[in-house]
Amino acid sequence: MKSIPLILMGCGGVGRQLLQHIVSCRDIHALNYGVRLRVVGVADSKSLLSVPDIFTTELDDHSVDEICRLKSNGSSLSSLTSYGDYQVFSNSETITNITEVASHLVRSTGLAVVDCSASSDTIGILQKVAEMNGCIVLANKKPLTSSMEDYDKLVLHPRRLRHESTVGAGLPVIMSINRLLSSGDTIHRIVGSLSDPRDDLGGMDVARKALIVARLLGQRLELDSIKVESLYPAEMGPNAMSVEDFLANGVSQLDNSLADRVEKAASNGNVLRYVCVIEGSRCEVGIQELPKNSALGRLRGSDNVLEVYSRCYSEQPLIIQGAGAGNDTTAAGVLADILDLQDLFT
Ligand SMILES: NC(=O)c1ccc[n+]([C@@H]2O[C@H](COP(=O)([O-])OP(=O)(O)OC[C@H]3O[C@@H](n4cnc5c(N)ncnc54)[C@H](OP(=O)(O)O)[C@@H]3O)[C@@H](O)[C@H]2O)c1
Repeated sequence: MKSIPLILMGCGGVGRQLLQHIVSCRDIHALNYGVRLRVVGVADSKSLLSVPDIFTTELDDHSVDEICRLKSNGSSLSSLTSYGDYQVFSNSETITNITEVASHLVRSTGLAVVDCSASSDTIGILQKVAEMNGCIVLANKKPLTSSMEDYDKLVLHPRRLRHESTVGAGLPVIMSINRLLSSGDTIHRIVGSLSDPRDDLGGMDVARKALIVARLLGQRLELDSIKVESLYPAEMGPNAMSVEDFLANGVSQLDNSLADRVEKAASNGNVLRYVCVIEGSRCEVGIQELPKNSALGRLRGSDNVLEVYSRCYSEQPLIIQGAGAGNDTTAAGVLADILDLQDLFT
């Protein structure tokens, strides 16, 4: 049985779901792939819980359940100081220990460091892991949307980096683009609705996803150079208007101001969609008029849709569509990424 040791950074909705998927897929992984995922450490924003012997032991399934229960109650891992034989490191010790564990394991069996946090603070650790030739799996978009300098350090060994869930959650967006690129196809335009309306009316989350895709296509862009049209004006921003006021009064004002644009688009046989457009050196996020009978035009509900136009998909684009958010599908995407790395482990 091949063992893949891993450290998980981030134990929120996605991280906890990932731990649960790992436990519930043990039989499938063993029978179909001859693989066992061995969780040797879990970190939240303040602490790292790790096993006493990183080479031979792992967090057992009961402990994984306990960690998930504790984290879903809003507690910190640091409250587990006396839990079993495990060690708990806090604050700066956490970073030192993740790096130490990584350096030992990368040199012996290999290690996957999985980032399911929503923080930029993990970037330093990830860069060290990349430098040591370790494997990295990301749901967190921030490490890939930091400066180009940080990005180059992270993608040092592209085969060892997986980040499918950073764009479109579990949808095969990154994989599909990589397959087109590796086959020599030329992608000339990507238009995508990649927002989750519950947490992204300002457009920055979509801008991060657009940046990840644009950089994959070879654009050397910084986040602040992406043109982003926010769906609300500054005077309705989080610092100027409460959520209650925004929902009660702000949204209806925004509806009124968009009504004219909707009407004009309809008169052209089009609809308005909030999308990212990546084309040549252009990368922008905002409202666009799109044909009513295109995949994006037909979009209903909260699905994500990506239209990819390339040499092979010129008239009719390649369409990738489905749920683009949710802990379950996001964690499933992360898990599939980890399994995809199995050939790199001894
Ligand atoms: N949910 C989705 O539908 C979805 C879809 C695609 C991508 N994603 C991405 O997946 C990531 C996780 O999302 P989520 O919904 O699970 O977020 P979340 O519930 O806010 O959880 C974030 C977790 O990260 C931990 N954390 C913060 N800083 C950390 C650090 N420096 N080192 C280690 N852990 C740290 C937090 O610790 P504390 O518990 O101590 O606060 C928390 O456990 C995000 O980057 C998100 O953008 C989510």
